[in-house]
Amino acid sequence: MQRLINFVIILGFISPCLCTRLNVGTKDGIYNVMDYGARGDGKSDDTQAFASAWSNICKARGKSTLIIPAGKSFFVTKVHFSGPCNAKIHIQLEGKIVAPPKEAWKGGEKLILIENLDGLTIDGNGEGGAYGDGSTWWNCPGGCEHERPGILHFHSCKDLSVRNIKITNSPRSHISVNNCIGATFSQISIDSPAISPNTDGFDISFSKNILVEDSNIKSGDDCIAINGGSFFINATRITCGPGHGISVGSLGKVRDNDQVSDVYVRNCTFIGTTNGGRIKTVSGGSGYAKRITFEEINLVNVKNPIIIDQHYPKDLELDSDVSVSEVTYRGFTGTCEGNVAVKFECRKNLSTVCHNAHGTATNTIPVVSCLQQNVL
Ligand SMILES: *[C@@H]1O[C@H](CO)[C@@H](O)[C@H](O)[C@H]1NC(C)=O
Ligand SMILES: *[C@@H]1O[C@H](CO)[C@@H](O)[C@H](O)[C@H]1NC(C)=O
Repeated sequence: MQRLINFVIILGFISPCLCTRLNVGTKDGIYNVMDYGARGDGKSDDTQAFASAWSNICKARGKSTLIIPAGKSFFVTKVHFSGPCNAKIHIQLEGKIVAPPKEAWKGGEKLILIENLDGLTIDGNGEGGAYGDGSTWWNCPGGCEHERPGILHFHSCKDLSVRNIKITNSPRSHISVNNCIGATFSQISIDSPAISPNTDGFDISFSKNILVEDSNIKSGDDCIAINGGSFFINATRITCGPGHGISVGSLGKVRDNDQVSDVYVRNCTFIGTTNGGRIKTVSGGSGYAKRITFEEINLVNVKNPIIIDQHYPKDLELDSDVSVSEVTYRGFTGTCEGNVAVKFECRKNLSTVCHNAHGTATNTIPVVSCLQQNVL
């Protein structure tokens, strides 16, 4: 009798360990954050569970999938998915990653930092993604304007693919991409209110061969901002609004030498945005913005559908400028909110060519002769 009791007790302790060992990471390269202690109840802190799931998958070999399951909310204070990893990693992002409010923030400049990965793919179900608590930051009663963090940041990634995820209410930019080569973002839904400050949808810098397609971006700042060091950047079938439109720049801030070329924005719709296609440079900078094309653009009540602003901010007049050349605006149709459809505030030597253009231009240098001139 004594022996039997001992036996039962020992089994009772051993079996959970066995189960854990068998389940974690061994089923065809599947790593589920729930197996690493995540609760997914929207309240418990799942930061550590995400970290241990990542450190295990990163050491694995072959194709491996990190599962962040649907129907759950994972409260985290910081997520850092960093490579290089042995495995070729796929993240199935179907649950919601929930950011803390300002008081509980520990994430530094970004809540989710994904870096140094080659061939990472992230797939969602439309609802999965990252949910910010931006309103706790937007008003900044304590003057936190410069501390506002972004939600999802990709740094030094190669051949990245992200699809069908949602990012909402970021304190600052929603998705930022820096130092990446080759990335496709498809079916991304970004949703923040018009009044949220500095909440760019996408913020791209020092990156090459980036495509954003089939996405819906509502925010309080640029829909997509294309900054210095960006080459071969495409945006296709994007619906923007509210927000400030798709912008190249600002380039040349604090006398920077900024270079941007080969940007193709095509078949995009702007709804109630302050700008459509914009190029914005700051006096005193150098470098260039060239081969920038905006085409097949649908406008619904847009304030400045076409705008090149080299007088940003208004009265700064220094000795150098970022040069702007080979810019094409083609096939803009729809409605304007104000009476200024085209606004070029340029430094020098810009020449314009028009085909089949109807509408008005305001304060342009040179005069866009094919359009009726408004003088403000
Ligand atoms: C961007 O569009 C151009 C012109 O259609 C195309 O040649 C290029 O391959 C595209 N690049 C990406 C990254 O999609
Ligand atoms: C533009 O995008 C819409 C869907 O957003 C599509 O139906 C249409 O065919 C596209 N137009 C062109 C010329 O590609």
